Amino acid sequence: MRPPVRAPERAGRTARSVRAACPAAPGLSGRVVEVGAGNGLNFGHYPAAVTELIAVEPEPHLREHAERAARQTAVPITVVHAVAEELPFPDASFDAAVTSLMLCSVADVPAALVELHRVLRPGGELRFFEHVASPHTAWRTLQRTADATVWPRLSGGCHLARETDGAIESAGFAIERCERFTFRIPPLDPPKTHVLGVARRTQAPGSRPDA
Ligand SMILES: C[S@@+](CC[C@H](N)C(=O)[O-])C[C@H]1O[C@@H](n2cnc3c(N)ncnc32)[C@H](O)[C@@H]1O
Repeated sequence: MRPPVRAPERAGRTARSVRAACPAAPGLSGRVVEVGAGNGLNFGHYPAAVTELIAVEPEPHLREHAERAARQTAVPITVVHAVAEELPFPDASFDAAVTSLMLCSVADVPAALVELHRVLRPGGELRFFEHVASPHTAWRTLQRTADATVWPRLSGGCHLARETDGAIESAGFAIERCERFTFRIPPLDPPKTHVLGVARRTQAPGSRPDA
């Protein structure tokens, strides 16, 4: 089991501060892909330096909402029907990629990360906001039991006990920043450990970041 990494977990993040911090963190620019964009909640936070946003969303109802949200932003946004495991874009075609509460739900996390790595240009950034396994053994065991039984069926395929930051590194990204904190959406959501960070595409899994 991996120990908690990089930063001690802290409490106190609000939904609004998380939304503002994830994709709109300083420096995001150029051509960006957000995968699993949902209803487009993040769209309003992209800075003007983003010249084009391609938003991937497989679920038709959410995609419809995302298309509506996309019409209300200054940044040009195109909503695309696809899945993370098979992105319909050429190699190295984006400057940055964003995932926000998406890697908990994909069927195949390594395949999704291989695709994110492929479509990012060398040195491109992956910005992620994801919930991950608890650092507390008893709670993590409970999460694993829930993942193996009812939780994914009750929550649209979500898994509670994924080690997503470790998977990001294994896929050939170097994590440059990673904040860990507990966060929940009241009233019913259980408190979960979240990671909010920036990873850079390396040339191959485990190698140094591209220049
Ligand atoms: C919890 S929602 C988060 C939505 C949005 N990113 C947000 O932060 O509000 C999970 C999203 O991941 C999408 N998703 C699930 N499996 C996916 C896959 N294989 N490829 C792309 N998106 C996927 C769902 O359709 C949904 O929009």
